[in-house]
Amino acid sequence: MATTSAVLGKKPREIYEPTPITDHGNATIISVVNQKGGVGKTTTTINLGAALAEVGRRVLLVDFDPQHSLSVGLGVSTRNLEGSIYNLMLDESTKIEDFLLKTTVPGMDMIPSHEDLAAAEGALVSVIAREKVLKRVLDSVTDYYDVILIDCQPSLGLLTINALTASDTVLVPLECEYFALRGVALLADIIGKVQKNTNPDLEILGILPTMYDKKTVHSREVLERIVEAFPDKVMDTIISRTVRFPETTVAGEPITTYASSSSGAAAYRRLAREIIQMGVALGKSQENLKNVAGGK
Ligand SMILES: Nc1ncnc2c1ncn2[C@@H]1O[C@H](COP(=O)(O)OP(=O)(O)OP(=O)(O)O)[C@@H](O)[C@H]1O
Ligand SMILES: [Mg+2]
Repeated sequence: MATTSAVLGKKPREIYEPTPITDHGNATIISVVNQKGGVGKTTTTINLGAALAEVGRRVLLVDFDPQHSLSVGLGVSTRNLEGSIYNLMLDESTKIEDFLLKTTVPGMDMIPSHEDLAAAEGALVSVIAREKVLKRVLDSVTDYYDVILIDCQPSLGLLTINALTASDTVLVPLECEYFALRGVALLADIIGKVQKNTNPDLEILGILPTMYDKKTVHSREVLERIVEAFPDKVMDTIISRTVRFPETTVAGEPITTYASSSSGAAAYRRLAREIIQMGVALGKSQENLKNVAGGK
């Protein structure tokens, strides 16, 4: 499996088996963001979520794209929905519990999206504290889940600002292609503005190299450039290019169950462990650690 350390000829990073969680909750909220289309945001949200659920994490996926690829990728038809994230955001009388759906993966739930969501940016303009609406929706379930992943649409508009305002941290999938770095400065700028205005605690979890092709020099060169630009922020796990991912969308399930022993499944399992090692999705024990650190 490709890793950043291996490709760059560095010492391999050790990955440990995660400790089981006994006290769930205190969810880490992660936005999966890149305004460039088709870089693997939805694929990462579904498969990282499934890999985290496999190691006993309670996972919630939020489909936050009007194109609802995440819902489709998990086999949910948006035709007969009771309601979607759109209703939860714009109708305060709705309860998140009413629209949560179970996925085929035990321990992983989702909130579906709908084409309606495209109208939300306009509808939110007149709402007070319009950047904080998604945060309000998610606040009531952070005590139950260990991790909430938000699959953002390819834009940096008000919906993505809502996602960033609701999040603890950001994961940026970046395809190993020329021009991949174009636009990252703009994304960093938006993250900076959110930190300044609506969410001072927002952190950047990391940049995830995707669509890596070990057969091309080109992929490796792009990876080198990404590491040069963000030396401390590139995840060690790399997601390689494989047709198994498009196949999973058709199947409507994560690669971890559709092709459990594939290298794609192994890569997302490794990513889940790497992220846990970084202190994400630790359940309530995370709170305890923070208390200890704070001398309480
Ligand atoms: N590692 C990969 N190798 C090959 N194909 C992939 C890989 N990851 C994702 N894909 C495919 O590339 C396409 C785009 O992926 P995905 O939908 O995850 O990107 P996205 O960033 O969410 O796109 P959008 O910006 O449109 O929401 C899909 O057909 C998906 O199956
Ligand atoms: Mg997507």
